[in-house]
Amino acid sequence: PERQRLLVVANRLPVSAVRRGEDSWSLDISAGGLVTALLGVKEFEARWIGWAGVNVPDEIGQKALTKALAEKRCIPVFLDEEIVHQYYNGYCNNILWPLFHYLGLPQEDRLATTRSFQSQFAAYKKANQMFADVVNTHYEEGDVVWCHDYHLMYLPECLKKYNTKMKVGWFLHTPFPSSEIHRTLPSRSELLRSVLAADLVGFHTYDYARHFVSACTRILGLEGTPEGVEDQGRLTRVAAVMLGVDRLDMIKGIPQKILAFEKFLEENSTWHEKVVLLQIAVPTRTDVPEYQKLTSQVHEIVGRINGRFGTLTAVPIHHLDRSLDFPKLCALYAVTDVALVTSLRDGMNLVSYEFVACQDAKKGVLILSEFAGAAQSLGAGAILVNPWNITEVAASIGQALNMHPEEREKRHRHNFHHVTTHTAQEWAETFVSELNDTVVEAQLRT
Ligand code: UDP
Ligand code: G6P
Repeated sequence: PERQRLLVVANRLPVSAVRRGEDSWSLDISAGGLVTALLGVKEFEARWIGWAGVNVPDEIGQKALTKALAEKRCIPVFLDEEIVHQYYNGYCNNILWPLFHYLGLPQEDRLATTRSFQSQFAAYKKANQMFADVVNTHYEEGDVVWCHDYHLMYLPECLKKYNTKMKVGWFLHTPFPSSEIHRTLPSRSELLRSVLAADLVGFHTYDYARHFVSACTRILGLEGTPEGVEDQGRLTRVAAVMLGVDRLDMIKGIPQKILAFEKFLEENSTWHEKVVLLQIAVPTRTDVPEYQKLTSQVHEIVGRINGRFGTLTAVPIHHLDRSLDFPKLCALYAVTDVALVTSLRDGMNLVSYEFVACQDAKKGVLILSEFAGAAQSLGAGAILVNPWNITEVAASIGQALNMHPEEREKRHRHNFHHVTTHTAQEWAETFVSELNDTVVEAQLRT
């Protein structure tokens, strides 16, 4: 049978471009859970639409990049520097990202954010419209258009304005916060309304889906049903589709993790020189001031702890500000005894899934934050911790390192079963087939 055509639209393309000359480009795989998850769409005739992570002001460059990307089935959306500044650094990563992860801003930043809100939201809408234009150019009848993440909440509406018949799905890779949080957003109604223009809206966990439905009922006054949200007889279905190392991001709780490790070293001198924490901290969103502050904060803590517990022959923390390619990362997962995921909030956290998948020989222990979406699926096998409670995380490091092999085996078996039965491929297939069903049902209703 002919494979269904799928247009995957995400802010970040699976490859990011680096300019090598006037008309030559090299392409690197982009970092982050969204890109990894979407490798699961292999079963479809997929094309990607998104930003290549680079400013290309000149036509020669744009033409050459478009051609290079076409080989990877990618279609670029060209965003200029000012738009990237206001839409990506500003509205997406300084407003929506912290809000959706329940991170407060310092008072002075909050005021500055409030002031720049209008112009950033305007840029957000403009950028979403630019994505819509590219989708519209490449759309063919019957295509499924799958939009991703908090960058593109305004996109479903733009697309439906072009063509009401387009099958549009939207999936959020972050948490969707409690409606009490969402309602503090000045653009709260507009964003919800435009997401609701999609035929199917998906989230990583049932809780996020519930938060979304209650935001729609409380803020928009719409009727929420177990199936989804109903607006003037049109039903948008809401589904929790379940799926199975850190970017240097506030949400990952890296300082908390390192402080807990310090406490563990303080309390367990027998483990000195016997245990090493390897932290891969992938640089991310480096133009946003909050991320710059975090980098220096983490460096300072690591330096202090290595100074305190290091010896002539060993340091307790190896901290790398870089990314690794996937095979190297898997090799690392396979030799690790304990994985430590301390996200303060995290949509899912694929690193925890990957660790479990690579541990069939070793059966290592996963320490996992209860605030990661993955806690709802890997909770039975992992040691769950509250990352804000450093004493508890330190104790769980001890528990993990001393765990009896039988218990490790049992916990691992549990999680391995989950990870191997809930793959990214299955997630993508389920979402797209539900989207197809939703559209068919909607046609029957009218
Ligand atoms: N990753 C990678 N190289 C690195 C660090 C991370 O390829 O050096 C990948 C990792 O394999 C995972 C993704 O980046 O698939 C991170 O996804 P996750 O859901 O854990 O967090 P996110 O970055 O999306 O917040
Ligand atoms: C998270 C987001 C993704 C994003 C990724 C990397 O996983 O959910 O949408 O692509 O982080 O962040 P970046 O800003 O570099 O795309």
